[in-house]
Amino acid sequence: MPGRTGLPAWKALAAHRDALANTHLRGLFAADPQRGERFAVDAAGWHLDYSKNRIDAESLRLLLALADQCDLRARIDAMWRGDKINVTEQRAALHIALRASAAEEFAVDGEDVVPEIHATLARMADFCARVRDGEWKGYTGKPIRAVVNIGIGGSDLGPVMAYEALRHYSRRDMQFRFVSNVDGTDFCEAVRDLDPSQTLFVVCSKTFTTQETLANAHAARAWLLSSLGDDRAIARHFVAVSTNAAEVAKFGIDPANMFGFRDWVGGRYSMDSAIGLSTMLAIGADNFRAMLDGFHAMDTHFHSAPFARNLPVLHGLLSIWNTNFLGVESVAILPYDQYLKRFPAYLQQLAMESNGKQVSQDGARVEYATSPLYWGEPGTNGQHSFYQLLHQGTRRATCDFIGFRTSLNPLGEQHRLLLANLVAQAEALAFGKTADDVRAEGVAEHLVPHRSFDGNRPSNVLLADALTPATLGALVALYEHSVFVQGVIWDIDSFDQWGVELGKQLAARIVPELHDASAPLTHDSSTNALIRRLRRH
Ligand code: F6P
Repeated sequence: MPGRTGLPAWKALAAHRDALANTHLRGLFAADPQRGERFAVDAAGWHLDYSKNRIDAESLRLLLALADQCDLRARIDAMWRGDKINVTEQRAALHIALRASAAEEFAVDGEDVVPEIHATLARMADFCARVRDGEWKGYTGKPIRAVVNIGIGGSDLGPVMAYEALRHYSRRDMQFRFVSNVDGTDFCEAVRDLDPSQTLFVVCSKTFTTQETLANAHAARAWLLSSLGDDRAIARHFVAVSTNAAEVAKFGIDPANMFGFRDWVGGRYSMDSAIGLSTMLAIGADNFRAMLDGFHAMDTHFHSAPFARNLPVLHGLLSIWNTNFLGVESVAILPYDQYLKRFPAYLQQLAMESNGKQVSQDGARVEYATSPLYWGEPGTNGQHSFYQLLHQGTRRATCDFIGFRTSLNPLGEQHRLLLANLVAQAEALAFGKTADDVRAEGVAEHLVPHRSFDGNRPSNVLLADALTPATLGALVALYEHSVFVQGVIWDIDSFDQWGVELGKQLAARIVPELHDASAPLTHDSSTNALIRRLRRH
């Protein structure tokens, strides 16, 4: 089988890109008055308008042919079957089972995993109800009023993103904090105004061996015991979420206070597993289930819709087009909703830890670009910061604008202003403003180049009616599947993360070297000098 760039569709796309080189979005829209409606798709409460990408009908046809030639359908079926599609770790990637209904079956190694998932959800719901109702008491008999999630990466970014996104639906008489960084400042600032006797720590770690999380969990235990003074308090103030019961017990958390999940749930795909315990504590079990239903609706669509009308497939293929054929290097995630302020950070891990790879599944170096960089900020704040570069810079980015028709916090005209800005930015990027238009406004000739906008800059617009648990779940599932589609086209393992290991190993070596000033230093001269400097301080 030829490599990806040798596939007929890949070659045809390269030729097609050259043929489109002088085509502007202005021309594409002028030639097809229906383009805005034609290049749009709806699924699971979301509307994707992808008409402002630099594509025509032929581009789409060729991208869909590329998907076929990369066996996308077979790879989706393999995921659904629970095959070990995470080849380097020999694991399934079956996060779709986390939101399956009790009537469905998903098997790993011949065992249906759905009953265990629903049993865990029921235990989580029971625990959350008891904490929220005040029935679960702290060691001194007071109800819990603060929840501190301790975790990092997928054990933090999903929970904190979901909490912030669904804050509208959360218990307002409770505090929810998230501690991830090994920098002691993170923990100290998170707990400084909390009452230990009313604080519950949720220690989240798939492996329960992660340095940062264990350091923070130990700090939490010391903080709690310095106030409550009795080891027996741990059982009332600590719960764990992990796949590793032995390490949880070693830390001193009663396995009865542990909520489990399996190794076929990747960390960055785990916010809808037991890792979502703090989310459920905040929004309650019914809202959590509604979020799972949203995930599931997008899963069903992804699995069953024809590729030409399949939202995650089209979204993923457009990223391939922009990355591999138009040379775009980054994707700006621009939610026009303040509640989604952590969504860009969440997507950074989802996309870049999944697809930031340089070798294909069989270990050969890839000869094409893989994941672009993901970054972003909520609109309209970003407009007054980095949008200058998006409109007139020399670096090319694509933008995903995300918005909601209605606001959860209507305030005079403000939602209309917000939405007008979203729509205007996508329009400005696509169509720009020609030098002639600028001159016609009477601008002095020497300023014309400064005030012209080339346009022809691609973007997607994603709209839903309102930010609800279900629309959030569907949005996350959309990106999960889009990332998978891109990984299939790039022929990479989207579910491992070996690239994070080297830094961890070197840090473990350097910790004692910082501690012991007499330890010989055998690194390069720069690393040695830095360590010596830090020792002095
Ligand atoms: O270092 C990267 C990573 O392994 C992520 O993939 C993961 O989400 C994070 O660390 C946290 O891992 P754990 O949940 O095992 O503590």
